[in-house]
Amino acid sequence: MLGRVKQAFADRFGTPQVVVRAPGRINIIGEHTDYNEGLVLPAAANQVLYLAVGKTTDASHLVALDIAGEWQGDIRQSFTTSGSWYDYLLGVVDLLRSGGYDTGNLHVVVGGNIPVGAGMSSSAAITCGFIYALDQLYGWQLSRQQMALLAQQVEHRYIGVQCGLMDQYAVLFGKKDHALLLDCRTLDYDWQPMLFKDYVWLLINTGVKHNLAATAYNQRREECRQGVYILRKIDPGINSLRDADAGLLAQARSMIPEQIYKRCLYVVEENKRVRQAVQAAARQDSASLGRLLLASHAGLRDLYEVSCPELDFLVEQAASVTGVAGARMMGGGFGGCTLNLVRQDQVEKVKVQVAKAYYRQFDRQPVFYQPSLADGVEAISTANG
Ligand code: GLA
Repeated sequence: MLGRVKQAFADRFGTPQVVVRAPGRINIIGEHTDYNEGLVLPAAANQVLYLAVGKTTDASHLVALDIAGEWQGDIRQSFTTSGSWYDYLLGVVDLLRSGGYDTGNLHVVVGGNIPVGAGMSSSAAITCGFIYALDQLYGWQLSRQQMALLAQQVEHRYIGVQCGLMDQYAVLFGKKDHALLLDCRTLDYDWQPMLFKDYVWLLINTGVKHNLAATAYNQRREECRQGVYILRKIDPGINSLRDADAGLLAQARSMIPEQIYKRCLYVVEENKRVRQAVQAAARQDSASLGRLLLASHAGLRDLYEVSCPELDFLVEQAASVTGVAGARMMGGGFGGCTLNLVRQDQVEKVKVQVAKAYYRQFDRQPVFYQPSLADGVEAISTANG
């Protein structure tokens, strides 16, 4: 894949000045907690994007392998939304310029194997990877934390998703064989070894992405905000759902509309599960971690209501196979992948059984990936070495 990206760049533009590897991410546990100042436990994956970038005095030219639509023009013109993949790149350039980081025109070729719409954050990979490449090219010396915050702003301002910081942190701070325990309130983080004797991670892609995803995501965020507003009437010290606990929620129950109560309860419980998952991982206790994954899924399905029939079905099917410690939907929801912790010698059996059942039910084949946990964004070659 790297070869293809470099070759495509060479064929059209010559030698790139910088080539960056930007990973997708998985999330072990801690879903929809990031924008509630909570805890998350994601990891960078070995499904990656490569970005080859060079300066040019001609018009800019942005190309993605395997995705239709190229963009050509003066990159300094003001941003207009097109709904196309290059909105991410143009958003990055526009945002950086508004902060005083000007770029000239650029040649960019992007390609990789992060499945789009699978909940593996190809969008964070492209934005973080591109910011990193520009930083290399122009020598701004932005910190990884600054890059993560900028990439999040691109989603907020140019794409319209009010996302948290989990994806950007995973992509930028990932470490081989580790997950990243990130405290989204303080932005303190730590790496947690994530190797289990005999167990591996298996992703199963539903192949669907229901189009209410972005709207529903922003709605959840708003519901959590309303929850905090009500809880503050009882305890003005509450600044986010991170500060709440089950006791406070019980006390406030009669004041909170049922739907908002469910959202808040899920977040409070999920934060607890992240801490428990870290302890289970430290003991290499795949059985306990598996149970936490299943509990997380139940919360996402019944309380946070971001699952869908395809995800529920995959989780149920996988969980019924011996050798599967646990499974849950992963990412924002309404489609994408489930994450499964599976005994290595049962992976093939799980694939066959789940694929058969899924096909019978939904008339489509699920796609399987076996991610390993990888390092975060890095430059892999530059013209001057
Ligand atoms: C998306 C967002 C993240 C996070 C997850 C849900 O991936 O980009 O910030 O909120 O959904 O955990």
